[in-house]
Amino acid sequence: MKRILVTGGAGFIGSALVRYLVRNKLAEVLNYDKITYAGNSSSLKEVDSDPLYHFAYGDICDLQAVEKAFRTFKPDSILHLAAESHVDRSIDSPAEFVRTNVLGTATLLQVALDYWKRLPPDKQETFRFQHISTDEVYGALGEEGFFTEKTPYAPHSPYSASKASSDHFVRAWHDTFGLPTLITNCSNNYGPYHFPEKLIPLTILNALDHKALPVYGKGANVRDWLYVYDHVTALCLVNEKGRPGETYNIGGHNERTNLQVVQSICRILDELAPWEKPYESLITFVTDRPGHDLRYAIDPTKIETELGWKPSENFDTGLARTVRWYLDNEWWWRPIREKKYAGRRLGSL
Ligand code: NAD
Ligand code: DAU
Repeated sequence: MKRILVTGGAGFIGSALVRYLVRNKLAEVLNYDKITYAGNSSSLKEVDSDPLYHFAYGDICDLQAVEKAFRTFKPDSILHLAAESHVDRSIDSPAEFVRTNVLGTATLLQVALDYWKRLPPDKQETFRFQHISTDEVYGALGEEGFFTEKTPYAPHSPYSASKASSDHFVRAWHDTFGLPTLITNCSNNYGPYHFPEKLIPLTILNALDHKALPVYGKGANVRDWLYVYDHVTALCLVNEKGRPGETYNIGGHNERTNLQVVQSICRILDELAPWEKPYESLITFVTDRPGHDLRYAIDPTKIETELGWKPSENFDTGLARTVRWYLDNEWWWRPIREKKYAGRRLGSL
């Protein structure tokens, strides 16, 4: 069975990937994670006693610990998701984003290259270093157009600048040293186990607590939403069939303004958890995010035509599933809201 090293497997997307691989017996997995504020071991409850699942506590910036993980687990492939991922936090404390996202990725590349060079030729041929990145590296779109793999990089936030930088390092390790790398740039994910500082879970949980639903600026910024398990199937497909050295954009054509997203959540909650007032009455327009990118939208033609990927959820079905998941899984989010993050405004300067 294939052996996959996943970094950041206790995070939102990483845990969805680990659950998917282990539940479907697709690979033996080592989850290498530092368990920052964003990492939650509880997201892995359903697989943590499975013999296909292993956990190594460690920082991706710690060269020796990363070397040990490679030496002992002997991966056939690495899917690198560990990162500082929240734009608002990158405005408050950018240094951690440079450390983890840039230096951490460079550390992993260095260790992976040494490891790869010592593999026998057949294992070298199939080894992949896959960097899970974001559409935010491409900057902001106007009213029209889409990001393709050829769109020039133009990041605006410390978060997207750090991800752009790590993408460049990954590409450099392929072009200079021949390491078989892959880069995937995905749009906004949503779904179960999403840390409640991001727009969709924050809105659901604030609404359930009858608290204000903060919408930045006029709520006119557009994001392109993808259900997290559709991202996971795309990642696995790229890992299996993607061409080394290539980039694949991932997105499902689900553009919405932020105000539309918040209003849709309110309407679903009006039905599933009726309250004395419509939930929309909680919507509150607040100061905009500094450097707020106007619009993101992915052109997924390459992954669809080259690899045959198709998402399974549209935004309406995926959002309804997500709201129901939060209603049914208070055991997961209540301790996070009480102990880690209660919903205070981040990144407003
Ligand atoms: P997340 O913030 O939910 O999880 C990040 C994980 O990385 C956590 O488990 C955390 O403990 C771990 N981590 C952080 N710093 C670490 C370090 N120094 N060493 C080891 N582990 C560390 O992030 P996410 O939303 O699941 O995103 C995962 C990846 O996908 C990121 O690289 C992100 O840039 C990218 N991405 C996210 C989205 C999205 O919408 N969430 C979209 C496109 C790409
Ligand atoms: O595009 C992919 C990116 O999507 C990923 O690379 C990031 O890791 C991920 O966090 C996400 O970034 P965003 O900044 O788009 O996500 P966030 O949920 O923070 O915000 C979504 C939009 O909603 C954004 O335009 C800002 C706005 N917003 C956000 C919050 C938290 C609000 O209006 N109110 C809020 O309270």
